[in-house]
Amino acid sequence: MNNLEARRVLADAEMLYSAAEVNLALQRVARDINAQLAEQHPLVLSVMGGAVVFSGQLLPLLNFPLDFDYLHVSRYGNEKQGGELHWKVAPRENVRGKVVLVLDDILDEGHTLHAIQQRVMELGATKFYCAVFADKIHGKAKPIQADFVGLELPNRFVFGYGMDIHGAWRNLPAIYAVRE
Ligand code: IMP
Ligand code: MG
Repeated sequence: MNNLEARRVLADAEMLYSAAEVNLALQRVARDINAQLAEQHPLVLSVMGGAVVFSGQLLPLLNFPLDFDYLHVSRYGNEKQGGELHWKVAPRENVRGKVVLVLDDILDEGHTLHAIQQRVMELGATKFYCAVFADKIHGKAKPIQADFVGLELPNRFVFGYGMDIHGAWRNLPAIYAVRE
């Protein structure tokens, strides 16, 4: 998407959550994780690239010792429709014996997080938690539920706060939906 197209998409979009609302949700998630994982010394795995904003803002709010690493898996590629999973950086041996907390931008159908959970547990993690900044509500059963959720979103294509639209606008501090 070129510069002009990206600006037009944003100008035509509907803001679902303002930056202030996003920030409040982030604080809530941090508080819940602090309450639940403080004594577990988790390995925190950030799912690139969508979780980069959520991870970058969440980590400094966590007040206990943790290890950090990342995964890179994409499902959408550059399409709006869900598709095949591509592992660019898969979970590795350092999850063995650890409590793992995976951070992702959005739980949609749940295939991505479910596949990550399976790999992480196969590699010998002792416990799996996941935090997603957004949970898309679409009424269909999901193969995995998130332990920590920032915001609920309608079943629309959204972007901002780490989520991209055709590669653009991960950098927005608020969450937008393409107008229908
Ligand atoms: P799932 O496997 O259907 O849960 O898809 C989850 C992944 O798809 C997330 O990690 C996002 O990267 C991406 N995704 C799902 N919905 C959206 C959306 O509305 N906008 C941007 N990315 C999305
Ligand atoms: Mg993603």
